[in-house]
Amino acid sequence: MSAASLGGRRIVVSAGPTYEDIDPVRFIGNRSSGKMGFAIAEAAARRGAQVVLVAGPVSLPTPAGLERVDVRSARQMREAVIAQLPADVYIGAAAVADYAPAEIAPGKIKKKDEQLTLALVRTPDILAEVAVHARRPTVVVGFAAETHDVEFYARGKLEKKKVDMIAANRVGVSGSGFESDDNALTVYWRDGALALGPAPKTELADQLLDLILARWPA
Ligand code: PMT
Repeated sequence: MSAASLGGRRIVVSAGPTYEDIDPVRFIGNRSSGKMGFAIAEAAARRGAQVVLVAGPVSLPTPAGLERVDVRSARQMREAVIAQLPADVYIGAAAVADYAPAEIAPGKIKKKDEQLTLALVRTPDILAEVAVHARRPTVVVGFAAETHDVEFYARGKLEKKKVDMIAANRVGVSGSGFESDDNALTVYWRDGALALGPAPKTELADQLLDLILARWPA
């Protein structure tokens, strides 16, 4: 059976990590490979959607039939995502850094003392901002990467960030979450939940899009 069409829909997907520079040679990053977000963007484009993929620093090729915008930091990702609104759907699969160095040192920081303290400041919460934006997409889907108490934290993010769905995955275990080709998601919305997988991220991408279509068919 062929997958249901997403023709006529404009979908913005974020993927990959963000890198928060400390100095010209060092940064704070995370383990996101971009595979989950790229799989969603690729599946949506294959099903006829007009897709913009906002990608953090990853080494993946650009899937066919979509527009890709490359960014590095959380601040740049925010600018790029907000610039793409309005859209029908926003899917935030990126692992956005929660904190960035308060200042980027202009030159390489030299080692001196036994300890070095870095001052960090909060980054913008892109998902929460999109969800209350004047040009809010009809459907806003976030992810939650959790090591424990997955439902508790995922439902907390659903409420606090005012999104329509949260796709939660367990991280810190092999075979799911960061870097792996496979994953397992539990998708939460206000009055329901559905477990997807374990399966390849490419299959989960189509299952997640099917779920979005089933709940927002218009
Ligand atoms: O890239 P892969 O290697 O394939 O790995 C996939 C993945 C594990 C990165 C992906 O499935 C995933 O879980 N992405 C979200 C990771 C994350 O940052 O989760 P979080 O629970 O910290 O954030 C919750 C949500 O808020 C996410 O939608 C995130 O994009 C968003 N967020 C977070 C912080 C911030 N400053 N801005 C945001 O938009």
